[in-house]
Amino acid sequence: MSGPDLRRAAAARAVDLVADGMRLGIGTGSTANAFILLLGERVRAGLDVIGVPTSEATRAACEAEGIRLGSLEEYPELDLTVDGADEIDANLRLIKGGGGALLREKIVAHASRRMVVIADAAKHVPVLGAFPLPIEVNLFGFGATFKAIQKAVESAGCAGEMTLRKASGGQPYVTDGGHAIVDARLQAIPEPERLSAALWAVPGVVEHGLFLGLATAAILAEARGDEAVVTVLGSP
Ligand code: 5RP
Repeated sequence: MSGPDLRRAAAARAVDLVADGMRLGIGTGSTANAFILLLGERVRAGLDVIGVPTSEATRAACEAEGIRLGSLEEYPELDLTVDGADEIDANLRLIKGGGGALLREKIVAHASRRMVVIADAAKHVPVLGAFPLPIEVNLFGFGATFKAIQKAVESAGCAGEMTLRKASGGQPYVTDGGHAIVDARLQAIPEPERLSAALWAVPGVVEHGLFLGLATAAILAEARGDEAVVTVLGSP
């Protein structure tokens, strides 16, 4: 049972939650892509939905599948968002943004009545923080913002190395919103709410990858022998 099989199993359960007429937030990443492929099959079989993509990559993937797209200007309230995550804890708190789409992902999730996370069960962790926390920043005054982020992190009882994310060519990674990302390798985040508040207090921070109180359910797939077993946390 491979990673793609597990992603597809979680995505398949999420596609079953989609009903005709829904306005859907559509996430970013390889698990969200598995969902987009299955959603595309349903759309071609007659399902009528409108998707709001969380990144330019997701927009392109949805267009390739023939999924009708809209914006939050046209549809400010969504029925359901389906997205991946980098880590999920028992309280459905998440780290997201490994793929760099955290700002749009959070705006879309916040506009949704329900947010269902789809993931490999290996991402279900007792304590968030082994995955580096992405922090999206405005590049103006980066040196000062970087220092302020370090202080904010310490004030929330965390410590670790922080680096500016680089693209494959070595230049700073740029998000769809034109910002940079600082990845904070903290190992453990004992109080995510405290860290979230501390980061939001830094003026150059545009958004961070802690998604707290947004996910209503997580669909987790794990391999048992040759089968993918799906567990659901929360209320999808
Ligand atoms: C993108 C994200 C993704 O949902 C997260 O990185 C998980 O990606 P994948 O499904 O490829 O493991 O937050 O910003």
